[in-house]
Formats: sequence, C-alpha cells, structure tokens
Amino acid sequence: MRIDKFISSQRTDLSRGDVKKLIRAGRVTADGAVVKSPEHKVSETSEVAVDGEVITYKEHIYLMLNKPQGYVCSAKEGSSPTVYELVPPQFRRRGLFPAGRLDKDTVGFVLMTDDGQLAHEMLSPVHHVPKTYIVTLEGPYREDYENSFAEGLVIDGGEKCLPAELSPVEGEDRVCRLVLHEGKFHQVKRMFEAVGNRVVFLQRVKIGGLDLCENLALGECLEIMHKDVEKLLAGAGTD
Ligand code: URA
Repeated sequence: MRIDKFISSQRTDLSRGDVKKLIRAGRVTADGAVVKSPEHKVSETSEVAVDGEVITYKEHIYLMLNKPQGYVCSAKEGSSPTVYELVPPQFRRRGLFPAGRLDKDTVGFVLMTDDGQLAHEMLSPVHHVPKTYIVTLEGPYREDYENSFAEGLVIDGGEKCLPAELSPVEGEDRVCRLVLHEGKFHQVKRMFEAVGNRVVFLQRVKIGGLDLCENLALGECLEIMHKDVEKLLAGAGTD
C-alpha cells in the first residue's frame, strides 16, 4: 500500500494531506530510509516512522476506557461530552466506536474498537458474554435478591431477564457485584427497581474475562494487546 495511506489509516490525527507535508519535510522514513514520495509502497510489516517514532501497523485497535460520569457513549448527544473526546489522538481511528453503551451516569469499562466482528460477538444476545458491575444501592442489600436474579427477573411488567449472578461485597451493606449475560436498556437499574430498591452508583468492572485495570484513572484509555483481546470473549456461551 502507499505510505500516505499506511500512516493515515493508523493515525486519524494525520490526514493524507498532513502526511504528504511530513514527507516533503523529510520527516517520514520506511525501513530506515527517508521517503521522498507519498506513493512510496510499503507493506504491513515495513518499519514506518514519523519523526523517528515507529508506527506499528494494526488491522484493529482495542481500547479499555475508564468512562467517568457525564460522558455519553454515542457520537453526539445534545451538549453532553462523548467518550470519543476521551480517546487520545494517537488512538483515534476511522470507524472507532464504543462496543456496548454505559449510561451517562455510569462509570467504568467501555471497550472502544474499530473491530465490528469482535463487537458483534461481544454484544450478540447469542453469545451471552458476561459483563460485571459493582452496584451501590439506595436501600440495604438483601440476600433474597440472589435467588430472584438467578431465576431470571421479570422487569417492567413483562420483560424476562436471563439468569444473573448477584453477590454481596464483603463489609458493605449497600454494595453488590452483579454479572449479566445480556445488555438490555438500563438493565441493572431496572432489575433493582423490580425488587424494590434503587441504584445510586454503577460501575462496570469487567467484560468477559478482562478486568478493568485498577491503575487506569477515570477518563483514561489503555490499549488492549493480543491475548487480552481474546479475554473479552471469555465466558461466552451460546444458546
Ligand atoms: N445497566 C444500567 O442500568 N446502566 C448501564 O449503564 C449499564 C447497565
């Protein structure tokens, strides 16, 4: 492929025009040699660098975002800031999107990717990839919720949920851990309303077998590499 395409496909902060300017300024190299033309051909394994910084070609990108409150998981919604604004320029790619939404007031793990196939598998109701939440309730946690959640709650007078695993968080009387195998609209909040309680704070801490990194501050992004990408689908089952 052409080197200007190689670079701009990996870095949406650099348009083809920007790349041409960088090449003219002698700031782009391929396998150690300064590139003279934007038409210069490279392959996915070439060592391409801008200002000495190597750009490793990746077909897809996978980002773990620790979403703070106040951000929406859509491209644009009124005046609210979006999760896209939290993605650092070097990770911005065409086709990047949040695979699975969290509410504006929910915090925690959002996967940002441009891999439509993986997102489909992760979100498909057929695969039931588990998503784990830490839930803070308004009223005290009750042990009898566990059976109701395990049997499959009926929410909003008719919608049946898949069995979900609920457990208390030790030392806390209003905090619990919930594992869901589907993603209905406002599901966690609606499930607790169905048992007469209310969610006051919600955090997603795990997708599939991959935990939200403890050191990742709210609003920060981390690139997920190789074997950790596979973990995103861990625990999936099929109907
Ligand atoms: N369930 C909810 O109610 N809200 C979320 O953001 C995610 C799951």
